[in-house]
Amino acid sequence: MIEQFKKDVVNGLGQTPKSIPSKYFYDALGDALFIKIMNMPEYYPTKAELEIFREKNDEMIQALSMEKDVFFELIELGAGNGTKTKHLLNNLLQKGYDFSYLPIDISSTALDDLEYKLEHEFPGLDVRKMHGDYFNVLETLKTNNHPKVILFLGSNIGNLTDENSAKFIYQIGANLKPNDKLILGVDLIKSEDLVRPAYDDPHGITKDFNLNLLTRINKELGGRFDVSKFDHVPEYYMNEGIARSYLVSSTDQEIRIEGLDRSFSFEKGERIQTEISRKYNDEIMKNILRETDFRIVSKLTDQKGYFADFILNRS
Ligand code: AVJ
Repeated sequence: MIEQFKKDVVNGLGQTPKSIPSKYFYDALGDALFIKIMNMPEYYPTKAELEIFREKNDEMIQALSMEKDVFFELIELGAGNGTKTKHLLNNLLQKGYDFSYLPIDISSTALDDLEYKLEHEFPGLDVRKMHGDYFNVLETLKTNNHPKVILFLGSNIGNLTDENSAKFIYQIGANLKPNDKLILGVDLIKSEDLVRPAYDDPHGITKDFNLNLLTRINKELGGRFDVSKFDHVPEYYMNEGIARSYLVSSTDQEIRIEGLDRSFSFEKGERIQTEISRKYNDEIMKNILRETDFRIVSKLTDQKGYFADFILNRS
């Protein structure tokens, strides 16, 4: 884990333009900041997807076309606190479906909290915590032959380039069987005045979230970053449909990272790209799915059309 982090930082800061993979946002502090982000009024994706799960779960269940008397596994990749999924779980239980809920997460504390909450709220629900890497877990589940519904929500796919999204979705399909389903939650392309505040909030929470990457390098790799000498700079153009985040050096500086036994120089105004956050439309989605084994069965959106949950069938 730490070795991979070292490698990724050496590679990312050693190249031009500089970058750091966004997966390193999520240490304990980053997790807490992301929860704050989801709770801010400017961050519309969480609210929009929650609305879909609250208001459209009858349609979602219909689109899944699972048989009521055939046991299936509902598997969530990166389950978090289950706020959205609870609405679906509740409706499936009320309709009498026979299923287990399998949240997969790399954080075992997140899984413990979720299990505890769900056991109290849904005493009849069978929850099986799956700790580990998504694909390792999916591979172990593949052999049991139960029909499967995979949930991948929150536009988490948006941190990947379209090419890598296609590979990721293909890989999910490789662990499934014909007629298994994938529910993929994605943020939709919309105007700049709506997207920009979500990534450049007036509370400074997203800024802290972004700068936490440098703090993490300081803590875990012995970095000497002065976070006050970097600015949080988000960027989004509707025609491109990708929100990007950068950390921009406000001065010429040389930064030592003890754990790497190296220094990196930054020019004033030089950027480190820290995140891409892809927004989608039908055409982009179809392009990504083209070389995977999934076809779109249904698309559920919120009232304002900010967000979509695509129901995909594995062919
Ligand atoms: C968790 C990847 C969906 O891209 O919107 C929020 C992360 N970054 N604010 C997103 C994030 C800045 C978020 N995802």
